[in-house]
Amino acid sequence: MPPTPALRTPRTLLRLWRDEDEAPMRAINGDPQVTRFLNRPVDPATVAGFHAAVQEHWRLHGFGAWAVESREPGLEGTFLGFVGVAYPAFLPEIASRAELGWRIAHAHWGRGLATEAALAARADAFGRCDRDELISIIHPENRGSQRVAEKLGMTIERQIHNPVIDRTVDVWQQPRPTGSG
Ligand SMILES: CC(C)(COP(=O)(O)OP(=O)(O)OC[C@H]1O[C@@H](n2cnc3c(N)ncnc32)[C@H](O)[C@@H]1OP(=O)(O)O)[C@@H](O)C(=O)NCCC(=O)NCCS
Repeated sequence: MPPTPALRTPRTLLRLWRDEDEAPMRAINGDPQVTRFLNRPVDPATVAGFHAAVQEHWRLHGFGAWAVESREPGLEGTFLGFVGVAYPAFLPEIASRAELGWRIAHAHWGRGLATEAALAARADAFGRCDRDELISIIHPENRGSQRVAEKLGMTIERQIHNPVIDRTVDVWQQPRPTGSG
């Protein structure tokens, strides 16, 4: 599946990764405000390997987490974080189900950017990538992430034990809308 070079929303550009994204994404991945409710490993080795891992996912599957940058006047080109679809290898029980995820620099929270970018990533996942469904694995105290999932129309399917953080988390799900793709 050839990757779409980029997706555009009114305020964001979702694009493939560049070398210069590694430093700002590493800073985001190392911010305790960002990692507070993450389900994934956040140890130094995983953070260091993030840039290579995300590109390897694209190479293997033809989709993955998009690098997200701003298109807003005055902020144009600013690296915001990632939004996109990837297999949650850290949870073997559901590792074959593609997860729509989002992680944005703290300075840009609360303006609807994650939801805006996720809508574009979701459309690409159900269209070009022909996914039948998407899931999101969300810590039950992560209100911001829950709201993004709610705004996307996702609902809680089940709970699952997450060995990475040794607690039960929610699996949100959304089937491909009828007529999509
Ligand atoms: C989750 C995250 C991507 C949201 O990014 P964002 O750009 O702020 O998202 P949006 O603005 O599109 O939506 C966030 C919503 O959550 C709400 N929200 C945020 N924090 C909240 C809180 N503590 N309590 C209640 N609502 C909250 C916002 O008000 C907004 O809802 P609204 O549009 O109804 O007002 C961002 O907070 C983040 O990167 N968090 C750290 C990484 C993370 O946890 N990722 C998800 C892992 S499952």
